[in-house]
Amino acid sequence: MKTAAPTRQVMKTEMNEYEPHIIVTEDGDDFAAASARIFCEAARPLKNPLVILPTGNTPLGMYRCLARDYRNENFWNNFTYVALDEYIGLEDGDPRLFGSWVQRELLDFVAVARDRRITFKSNPHDKGAECARMENFLTENGPADLAVLGLGVNGHIGFNEPGSAFDSRTRVVNLAPETITANSKYWGGEEHVPRTAFTMGLGTLAQARRTVMLVSGMHKADILEKTLTAPISEDIPSTYLRTIPNVTIISDRSAAP
Ligand code: GLP
Repeated sequence: MKTAAPTRQVMKTEMNEYEPHIIVTEDGDDFAAASARIFCEAARPLKNPLVILPTGNTPLGMYRCLARDYRNENFWNNFTYVALDEYIGLEDGDPRLFGSWVQRELLDFVAVARDRRITFKSNPHDKGAECARMENFLTENGPADLAVLGLGVNGHIGFNEPGSAFDSRTRVVNLAPETITANSKYWGGEEHVPRTAFTMGLGTLAQARRTVMLVSGMHKADILEKTLTAPISEDIPSTYLRTIPNVTIISDRSAAP
C-alpha cells in the first residue's frame, strides 16, 4: 500500500516563535490607504530604501494610493525596487511580466530611476545564473529594508508553493495547480499563465529587516487564519512569518480572523 509522504512540521524547539502585528482595516479604500500610510512610515526614515515588492491584485490599491497621494515623498529619489518573483519564458514587453506590472502601477508614477529597478529577466540564457544575480544583489546591497508580500490561497509567498523549505533561496519553481487557477484571473484564462517561475526563497525573504504582508478578501480568510494559528510547517509556507521578527499583517475586514 502506498503511504503518503511525511510532511515536515518544523519543530518549535528549532526556532523562536514570533507573533506578527495585525492591523485590520475596512475593505476597499481604507485598506489601500492604511497600507500606503504604513509603507511610507517605514520608508521615510531610510536613506536608501531597498524594498521587495509583490504583484497580484492585493497591492494594487496601495500602489494607486502611493502614486496619487505620496508621489512627492523624498524617499523615492533613493528608492530601490527588487522584484519578489517573475514568470519564466516571457519576451520583453509582454504585459504579463511581473516586473513591468509593478512599474506601470507604481514606479513610473513616482519616478524611481531605471537602474534602481531590479527585476528578473524572464527569458535568461542561464536560469541558475539569473537566480544567483538576484541573490548577489541582495547580498551586496541588502538586506532589504522592507519586504512587502501578498498571500496565495494555498499559503504561498511569492511563488514559494507548499513544501518550500523555510531556508530556500531564489530559484526556479513549478506553479501549483491552484496558483495557475488563481493567476488565470489576471490574464483571462489558465492557458495564458506560464507554468514555471522565479521566486525569491523564504530564507532570502526572512532576511528582510521588516516584512509587511497585505491580505484582502473573503477568499483569503481561511488561509490567513491558518497562517496565524496552524502548526508552523512548510506545508503552509506563510507560517514562516511566525519564525521571524518585525512582521506586520494588514488585513481588510473580509479576510480578518
Ligand atoms: C501570486 C503572486 C504572489 C501574490 C499572490 C497573491 O501568484 N506570485 O506574489 O502575492 O499570488 O495574489 P493576489 O493578490 O492577486 O491574491
